[in-house]
Amino acid sequence: MTARAFPDGFLFGAATAAYQIEGAAFEDGRTASIWDAFARVPGAVIDGDTGDVACDHYHRYADDVALMKGLGIQTYRFSTSWSRVRPDGGAVNRKGIDFYSRLVDELLDAGILPWLTLYHWDLPQALEEKGGWTSRDTVERFVEYAGTMHDALGDRVTQWTTLNEPWCSSFLSYTAGAHAPGRQSVRDGLLAAHHLLLAHGSAVQELRGRGAQELGLTLNLTNAEAVDPDDSADVDAARRIDGQFNRWFLDPVFRATYPGDIVEDIRAVDAEAVAAFEGAVRDGDLATISTPLEFLGVNYYHGEYVSGRPSPVPVPGGDAPTDRVILSPYPSHDAIHWHERGLERTNMGWEIEPAGLTRLLRRVADEYVGATPLYVTENGAAGDDALVDGVVADDQRVAFVRDHIAAIRDALDEGVDVRGYFYWSLLDNYEWAWGYAKRFGIVHVDYATQRRTVKESGRAYARIIAARAV
Ligand code: BGC
Ligand code: BGC
Repeated sequence: MTARAFPDGFLFGAATAAYQIEGAAFEDGRTASIWDAFARVPGAVIDGDTGDVACDHYHRYADDVALMKGLGIQTYRFSTSWSRVRPDGGAVNRKGIDFYSRLVDELLDAGILPWLTLYHWDLPQALEEKGGWTSRDTVERFVEYAGTMHDALGDRVTQWTTLNEPWCSSFLSYTAGAHAPGRQSVRDGLLAAHHLLLAHGSAVQELRGRGAQELGLTLNLTNAEAVDPDDSADVDAARRIDGQFNRWFLDPVFRATYPGDIVEDIRAVDAEAVAAFEGAVRDGDLATISTPLEFLGVNYYHGEYVSGRPSPVPVPGGDAPTDRVILSPYPSHDAIHWHERGLERTNMGWEIEPAGLTRLLRRVADEYVGATPLYVTENGAAGDDALVDGVVADDQRVAFVRDHIAAIRDALDEGVDVRGYFYWSLLDNYEWAWGYAKRFGIVHVDYATQRRTVKESGRAYARIIAARAV
């Protein structure tokens, strides 16, 4: 196999998120977010793990930036903590701003492009107590917070992402109850999704008005495939997943409309929830939500292989095995059953399917984004990593990274405008309801000592970056 090179401007990066790595949860004026609260709900997170300390990145950020520089990482995707910057969603906290200012300076000194995400799921708990994302007021608070970040960093940060994966912060969090704030209501999931999208569009307009030039959104997207494409029940299961996971977000952002088939599916199971949602969508909202962007971030982990009939064999994957009963994040769950197709899986139970990334990028390019470029803002694998004599021989992840980067190269060959790849994650970190039980990093973290050890996958990724080819 001959090495295939990447174009000059293509960026190789790594990603993290504030709550998953920072720690210092109550230092320098930061107050609780919904994750601080949810992590303390008995049984919500495996082993009751919290992000109180996490990777202690708040204190070790300079070492972490040096580590990235050593690996040749060109861009770093991180998120800022709303509760650090505007505790309780209120007045600006200088010390919180200063932390991100120091981080950005450190990155720029190291020649690493800062790629800032404003919201990676950590709403101030005080705002949740006023309704959270089900309340339209939260949109205004978010726009204020976005403006604060731009005032502080707009002279140095060029890349701005409003939200990470609004599907997770709405349906997984307000309907399934798997993530903070742990609510379990179809109505609340629908309202949260709409207000998140409105917060996205409103913040884009606000930041563009302040001179920001590179504005985008990150969505988690997937391929939903019918087990038997000739079986109408299987095809319908795939349509429901695609509609509730992909189109519910892509359609409003790129077509200024919600997918009508899914609205009707959900109405059939919860008419009151849909009435509340329709009441919340005001004139002008969809125009705001569909404000043009400079890029779309795509997070891709695995596909969904679904049928209208139950699987004859147990299928791995799914939610963290906590003490809470988790509901379906799909309001219209009628006859959606996941099946096994024999692909290798990561230790999340997620299928490994690099070719799915090529297909997904091409579909999003063909059907949605027009001339807007794509970035793969997350892609990664949790592994059964063991640190033995200072080495983590994570062969599965080595292949995972290489094969997904090759899949992007295939998408480029097919004419898709994709301009960067961020591995999730730089560091092992707090994997939400899984706590510290899952390790996604290319750098191993010993949580007792905070020692970082570059895994074999980190070395392999560094070689790909140096060669700019797979
Ligand atoms: C996950 C799929 C998984 C399935 C297994 C779903 O919630 O998204 O990745 O295969 O559960 O039950
Ligand atoms: C999220 C990350 C998370 C990763 C692995 C993505 O959905 O953005 O925060 O750690 O997937 O589950």
